[in-house]
Amino acid sequence: MTAKIIENYRISSYYYRLTLDCAEIAQKAAPGQFVMIRVNHEVEPLLRRPFSIHRQWTSSSHRSAQAEGIQILFRIVGKGTAHLASLSRGAKIDIIGPLGQGFRLKTAISHPLLIAGGIGAAPLLFLADRIEEAQALPLQPRLFLGGKTKEDILCREDFEKDGFSLHISTEDGSMGHKGLIMEPFSDYLKQAMLSGKNEITIFACGPLPLMYKVAEAARQYNLSCQVSLEQKMACGVGACLGCVIEWADADNPSRYRRVCKEGPVFEAGRRCEARRQEL
Ligand code: FES
Repeated sequence: MTAKIIENYRISSYYYRLTLDCAEIAQKAAPGQFVMIRVNHEVEPLLRRPFSIHRQWTSSSHRSAQAEGIQILFRIVGKGTAHLASLSRGAKIDIIGPLGQGFRLKTAISHPLLIAGGIGAAPLLFLADRIEEAQALPLQPRLFLGGKTKEDILCREDFEKDGFSLHISTEDGSMGHKGLIMEPFSDYLKQAMLSGKNEITIFACGPLPLMYKVAEAARQYNLSCQVSLEQKMACGVGACLGCVIEWADADNPSRYRRVCKEGPVFEAGRRCEARRQEL
């Protein structure tokens, strides 16, 4: 389908937030799902690229209003995304979605811990919105947000508005803890276990090495955990097998899974076995 750009807002040096008028996709979208966008650039005219759905969008200020569009948060990483960043309000783009399996929020969650690396924060804000709308939580939800520099720390105020307590780390120390986000995350898990807060559910999104570490920690403490995996995708609908990864859990004995079709969100905690690939 074709979606009209409502706004293309530069939020920092390399990051943009694109708001698209596409009610049909927005109303079906769930946190963790993604869309494929054809970036109509003469150098790469045919390629579609995956973008996680950052948020549902509505022109009304009423919280109960039906979604009229979606937002995408993206970083300029090449010609395609540079072209996307150059598009203005009113331009039209070709989009399909929502695609893939998102985060599962069926059972009551008492203590959600979200962890994101860089642009991994994008789909977690949609999840945080849903947690905030649906749950009266006995413990304050927490978000662990990591990046290389402070430029990569995205949407802090939005997560705080959703009632999340934030832990931030940057590799260069320009914001929050200096180092990797796994360090404060592991410390928090250790403390939580010691003080008996073991009703934790982890939701994670970010680069694969971080996701493997989060999955490992969840299994170590026997916690429920879902991770959203970032992987290169060509078709986005399960046809090309270009996004296959080795990832098994007790309910799905097949080791090889398509990130675009069976994922991008996978169970990763208790009873799961994530195989480390060449990273
Ligand atoms: Fe083609 Fe996943 S991108 S099968």
